[in-house]
Amino acid sequence: MIVWTVANQKGGVGKTTTVITLAGLLSKQGKRVLLLDTDPHASLTSCFGYDSDELDVTLFDLFTENDLSLDNLRKLILPTNVNNISLMPGSIALATLDKTLGAQEGVGLLLDRALKTLAVDFDVAIIDCPPVLGVMMVNALAASSRIIVPTQTEFLALKGLERMMKTFEILRGTNAKELKYIVVPTMYDKRTRASHESLDTIKKEYENVLWTDVIPVDTRFRDASQEHMPASILYPDSRGVKAYQMLLSDLLMLEGQAHG
Ligand SMILES: Nc1ncnc2c1ncn2[C@@H]1O[C@H](COP(=O)(O)OP(=O)(O)O)[C@@H](O)[C@H]1O
Ligand SMILES: [Mg+2]
Repeated sequence: MIVWTVANQKGGVGKTTTVITLAGLLSKQGKRVLLLDTDPHASLTSCFGYDSDELDVTLFDLFTENDLSLDNLRKLILPTNVNNISLMPGSIALATLDKTLGAQEGVGLLLDRALKTLAVDFDVAIIDCPPVLGVMMVNALAASSRIIVPTQTEFLALKGLERMMKTFEILRGTNAKELKYIVVPTMYDKRTRASHESLDTIKKEYENVLWTDVIPVDTRFRDASQEHMPASILYPDSRGVKAYQMLLSDLLMLEGQAHG
């Protein structure tokens, strides 16, 4: 099973949109996709029309129940309105885990262990991350074969990218596993100077980890989330979705190289 994490220590850069759009594209290829919402804001969960406050079980239970058997893990997974896409929903309670679990031995690898067990049911898992470095992000990074770092092409967003790179450096020191990541410029508006200039800066500083293309600004993403569906299902011909299609092809090619 391929495991990707979508992370950036800044909100509003297109993380959740990246998760849901890639998932829609993968589902159309017949891949069985599991999405994991590790963000206490649970916006991925609401994107599929679920109210996380009303759910009996969420990803929170994975961290508190201490039962990583396949049967129990399957109980944490919900179907969605899209064929082939399943969801391990998030909840506000996830925000408490940093305090309660903190630096407990082995806690950073719980998600990795859970996903290894769930690999019998899915081809691809994509983890949506909160914009803070904590137990959730550490778990997500440790479980993934590649990290996708969406970066809004505007100056304030560059700080978040810098912070993310520092986090990778810190984790590289503590983790046996090498973290592979790709920076993906999002919400690129070719008419604005801010987009051009920030992309130039990103190119200069992150050239060797930068995706070769950009995700353009496209109002279809907001339309789709209001309809609780991936834009890749509702608006397959939109510019934004086409860009994600190219990103997906590149990501799958990288996976092929990694495994081949
Ligand atoms: N390429 C894009 N073009 C236009 N709007 C976008 C694009 N990507 C995301 N958005 C919108 O921007 C907002 C923030 O995106 P989201 O994916 O929720 O960011 P994050 O998960 O990083 O907080 C959402 O309203 C989303 O619909
Ligand atoms: Mg989000």
